[in-house]
Amino acid sequence: MVNVGVKYKYCVIGYPIAHSQSPQLHNAWFKEEGIDAHYEACEVSPKQLESFMQKFRFEYEGANVTIPHKETIMQYLDKVTPAAQAIGAVNTIVTNGKKLVGHNTDVIGFLKAIECVEPTHAIVLGAGGAARAIVYGLVKNRVHVTIVNRTVDRAESLAKEFKCDFAMLVDVKNTPCDLLVNATSVGMMSSETPLPNLAQLFEKRKTKPAVMDIIYTPLMTQFLQDAESIGCPIITGDTMFVEQARASFELWRK
Ligand code: ATR
Repeated sequence: MVNVGVKYKYCVIGYPIAHSQSPQLHNAWFKEEGIDAHYEACEVSPKQLESFMQKFRFEYEGANVTIPHKETIMQYLDKVTPAAQAIGAVNTIVTNGKKLVGHNTDVIGFLKAIECVEPTHAIVLGAGGAARAIVYGLVKNRVHVTIVNRTVDRAESLAKEFKCDFAMLVDVKNTPCDLLVNATSVGMMSSETPLPNLAQLFEKRKTKPAVMDIIYTPLMTQFLQDAESIGCPIITGDTMFVEQARASFELWRK
């Protein structure tokens, strides 16, 4: 779609990006608020990121950043907020007089999504940019966190950075938790799950953990279906998605 004459342009930068519902959401909000803006999805591979960012500041007023660029994007920004710096990941860019400022609204979205849980012990699956925001938010709220990741070295270094624990997949069985979060991309548009034996691991526990997926396409991932089948309360990814988007939108409106 060509948007001749649109005053402000925004986008979401990711790879892949077809699954993203950010354009629908933000375009609806722009329309609702009577703002002359258009938001589009930009599929940018890791190799293309540098050249894309060179022209970005001249074309866009702001952006969301998603898999796999939340960490690598930081090198192309002029400034990063202290929270995003501490998290080590950016999911929102504000173009401020041609200066690019990086923010992280994932942490706001995540904390909203788990408001009803008040966890004490959490297991976070994943060690990428999304996991960073989640671990940061949990540790700030004094939750004991154990990170589990396919690449164990990544889990270990993230755990070191945020002063929490890491474990191997096989150790999940004996790890206390009242909240289990999938912060990997496994299950997006597929029936894969990051924890194939979830039901076996948790069905005998007297108190079932709340189980959250950050993926929102599909809404009922295999991971959440497995959790629900053994009676775990579940938190779908749409709340975090909408709340991080709302926080990004507020930053762009300022
Ligand atoms: P984001 O910034 O959105 O978190 P990312 O940095 O690419 O994206 O991180 C993706 C996460 O999903 C990582 O934890 C990754 O595990 P690795 O560190 O081992 O790469 C995890 N992930 C992606 N595909 C996976 C798969 N097939 N099985 C298990 N974990 C996977």
